Amino acid sequence: GDVRLWGARFADGPAEALANLSASVHFDWRLAPYDLAGSRAHARVLHKAGLLTADELQRMIAGLDQLEADVADGSFVGTIADEDCHTALERGLLERLGPDLGGKLRAGRSRNDQIATLFRMYLRDHARIIGGLIAELQDALVGLAEAHADVAMPGRTHLQHAQPVLFAHHMLAHVQSLSRDAERLRQWDTRTAVSPYGSGALAGSSLGLDPEAVAADLGFERGSVGNSIDGTASRDFVAEFAFITAMIGVNLSRIAEEIIIWNTKEFSFVTLHDAFSTGSSIMPQKKNPDIAELARGKSGRLIGNLTGLMATLKALPLAYNRDLQEDKEPVFDSCDQLEVLLPAFTGMMATLTVNRERMEALAPAGFSLATDIAEWLVKQGVPFRVAHEVAGGCVKECEAHGIELDQLTDEQFAKISEHLKPEVRTVLNVKGALASRNGRGGTAPSAVAAQLAEVKADLRVQ
Ligand code: ARG
Repeated sequence: GDVRLWGARFADGPAEALANLSASVHFDWRLAPYDLAGSRAHARVLHKAGLLTADELQRMIAGLDQLEADVADGSFVGTIADEDCHTALERGLLERLGPDLGGKLRAGRSRNDQIATLFRMYLRDHARIIGGLIAELQDALVGLAEAHADVAMPGRTHLQHAQPVLFAHHMLAHVQSLSRDAERLRQWDTRTAVSPYGSGALAGSSLGLDPEAVAADLGFERGSVGNSIDGTASRDFVAEFAFITAMIGVNLSRIAEEIIIWNTKEFSFVTLHDAFSTGSSIMPQKKNPDIAELARGKSGRLIGNLTGLMATLKALPLAYNRDLQEDKEPVFDSCDQLEVLLPAFTGMMATLTVNRERMEALAPAGFSLATDIAEWLVKQGVPFRVAHEVAGGCVKECEAHGIELDQLTDEQFAKISEHLKPEVRTVLNVKGALASRNGRGGTAPSAVAAQLAEVKADLRVQ
């Protein structure tokens, strides 16, 4: 017989050029285990509706189990002639059960509700995998924060020296953004835990099938869709997944860019482990931060997957359109990229060496304690706008003489402003500057320790 699910009203088979264009089996074959799970659930509701006898159901499930084993060991594979994974697996079932029984499974379902369901199942599994990989990266960053809990570094804005911060505070900033990504994945999963099975092509089924039973069978905690048109045509769950994975890529690229800069001779803040860096084919001395660069590069690709998908969805009329077949490769790619990138990235972070002395030495450089002069003056009752100007005057004086703020003499201070008493020197050191920023979320060791405890508690419950 014809393997196609739609050949009857056609006089001719598809042109080769059409078959080549139309085929998705080469990329949707990874959905085969989900399609088989969907088929088992569908067989059970056909039985519930009186459309399969108990004996037929039993033989149907056995046939599907056999097919699943054959798919798993590679003895059954879909081909371009099958068009897609749904058609290929139905051919496999017909080959195993014969047309009389095998031909009954298609009743009351369409590839449109099948694909919408399987795609959700696949992405939900990968959201969990990616969430787990993010947690491992967070553990590595927390490990760095704990191992160097007391190390100060130059905090930057505009990449210029701004104010000293704790290295741990900086690491935990990255942990925080990754926590939001992990939370996004969990919230997305809750929204996506709704099954479109039973929507049919777009209008539902006349066969008295129970979509809620299929939903429960397939692990959709929030039941079946409330609207069969929306169930088959909506792909915002895909777009949102693509956004979250792109956001993860962007967050990784921001860490990556810092690692690349910190790893330069000029910064020398970190040294990458040999096992997580690469050499040059011509320059024997080179040790390159390729993992970080690939993270930066792949973030562009992940953004591309999102924007391409959005463009595909834009202005599509309801319900299913074949354009929607273009929705899978971008997010499959996003999963694949993150699933190879994250373990390498985590390895790079977990094994890098922090050059504590270098960070500490640069922490007060670039007049990064000027704000502390201004805030000390505010505590003496000086209006901040005046204090800001006075502190700026100190920087100007230092630059003119090529000295640092704590090298200004009592006379120089007094000349700049009558408010600048010698006691101002108590805040002109990194330790004091850090310790004074002790409000919630600040960079004082006490505040960072509290943040670390919160972050670790959060990571444990995820
Ligand atoms: N392969 C299609 C997709 O990925 C699913 C099949 C629906 N095809 C159809 N002609 N109605 O969206």
